[in-house]
Amino acid sequence: MDLLLHLLGEQPEDAALTRDAALALEGGGDDDGPEVASTAGGARVAGVQVALVDHLHVVGREAFTELRLDVFASIHGRGRVARFGRGACTRVSWGRSLPHTRGVPGPEIQQIRRDVDALDWKALAPALEREGHVRIPRLLSARACAAMAALYADDARFRKTIDMGSHRYGEGEYRYFARPLPPQVEGLRRAFYPHLARVANRWNARWERQDRFEASLRGFLARCKAAGQARPTSLLLRYREDGFNCLHQDLYGEVAFPFQLVVLLSDPQRDFTGGEFLLVEQRPRQQSRGEAIALGRGDALIFPNRERPIETARGVSRAQIRHGLSRVRSGERLALGVIFHDAK
Ligand SMILES: [Fe+2]
Repeated sequence: MDLLLHLLGEQPEDAALTRDAALALEGGGDDDGPEVASTAGGARVAGVQVALVDHLHVVGREAFTELRLDVFASIHGRGRVARFGRGACTRVSWGRSLPHTRGVPGPEIQQIRRDVDALDWKALAPALEREGHVRIPRLLSARACAAMAALYADDARFRKTIDMGSHRYGEGEYRYFARPLPPQVEGLRRAFYPHLARVANRWNARWERQDRFEASLRGFLARCKAAGQARPTSLLLRYREDGFNCLHQDLYGEVAFPFQLVVLLSDPQRDFTGGEFLLVEQRPRQQSRGEAIALGRGDALIFPNRERPIETARGVSRAQIRHGLSRVRSGERLALGVIFHDAK
């Protein structure tokens, strides 16, 4: 009710909404189409659409962090938008005249979605399904790589830093992003998820597993949250001379998405030597086979974080997959890791 009063202009500009009013509108919809949360048909509010957006968004000079609800309403045939966040950011901004439209993520995230959707998925998806991994050349521009790499020095961006040597994971350092994730990371995560979920579901069908991955990242993350996995897992990794990463799998709880993504941010022609991405596959009753993948700056690699189906004489079997990094022989190598499940 508080919200409707705001939308109808019966509350002063920039008045704070109560947290209860925000919570009452939460729920439903997906990344592509928020559901109608409330309608006062025939009256002064023609319709209200609500989208839950969990990334940093800037409106004018105001930065909204954490979860944010975008409310799009058509009032008296004139579009208006009210914005408010949860927690400390319960604030409404009036006066913007927007067309009556669906709630959508910020423009940077939308652009990433368009770019990722425009990739040749008719070739990528079958290759991924068949081989378990696929390289996407120049997913990010040199400029985007440099901007992402520059975040490494910004302590406020990260929730945790791991010294790999002290854990015997290898030699190097990685940092887990804090929420809100940078739009570039959030965008990649959202944009790749639905394409990869379709392949993951085909794998599940081959394995005769009953469970299926949700169509949108938001739905999948709700499942993670229900399992107690709510901490963000996307990260930046930095290796210097003699740095390496032992073979491992990135599992953070019971719920795991079978693919993850790495993007090389440094230039192997200029910034470092060595440091090839390693994939090692363990097939049933066979010795391990390894593959070293040399990425270029901006190249992405999608790979399985645990296993993949393979055809054998006995039918479909599981090959266990581990990944790592060969020794960096000189220079510095930075990479972005996008993991789709959250951590406990
Ligand atoms: Fe990893």
